[in-house]
Amino acid sequence: MQDFAREMKNIRQFVKRKLAGNRCGHDLDHTLRVYKNALALAEQCGGNIEIISAAAMLHDVGRPEESRSRGAVCHAIVGAGIAAEYLAKRGFDKEFIRCVVHCIERHRFRRGEAPESLEAKILFDADKLDSIGPVGLGRAFLFAGNSGARLHNSKQEALAAEEYSYQDTAYREYLVKLSKVPQRMLTEPGRKLAEKYGKFMDDFFREMNLQIKCNLK
Ligand SMILES: [Fe+2]
Ligand SMILES: [Fe+2]
Repeated sequence: MQDFAREMKNIRQFVKRKLAGNRCGHDLDHTLRVYKNALALAEQCGGNIEIISAAAMLHDVGRPEESRSRGAVCHAIVGAGIAAEYLAKRGFDKEFIRCVVHCIERHRFRRGEAPESLEAKILFDADKLDSIGPVGLGRAFLFAGNSGARLHNSKQEALAAEEYSYQDTAYREYLVKLSKVPQRMLTEPGRKLAEKYGKFMDDFFREMNLQIKCNLK
């Protein structure tokens, strides 16, 4: 692909249109943060920058479909299909598309198939880094607020809570998911950053618990 910078502008416009109106932390802002994280990780890990750039920009393009289906379809799978169709229309070659599709399909893995290529591991870590630290906490509070949850609760209340309930707080998100993210990182620089952000979240909730107890005295 000759003028990749111009193609990236087109991809960004395409993603912007696809994600218009998508809220709750999976909007274009999230995509652009993940894109920057991915480029920063690639500087240290290597990898094919064009594959990483296109995959990062397109990684959540299937989010609106997942929302519309109320979770019945997986945005990573449907998004990989949307990305493949778009890139083929723009004239990208089959091998490039195959590599980007692999990154997007695997960026959400939990128990299933893990990212195999370096580019896919970088995208996975770049996406995870946006879910922890100050940004991750901000997103967790934004999401809880949008769902009508309270500001904070006890560990017992949080762990007993149902999803999307009044007790489904940012603290619950931290206890159940975010505190475990640092152990899941796949690249060395990603792991180092995740450890720093993990400590930030631990300190934040320790102080929050202290402040709330103090205020109750
Ligand atoms: Fe995603
Ligand atoms: Fe994402």
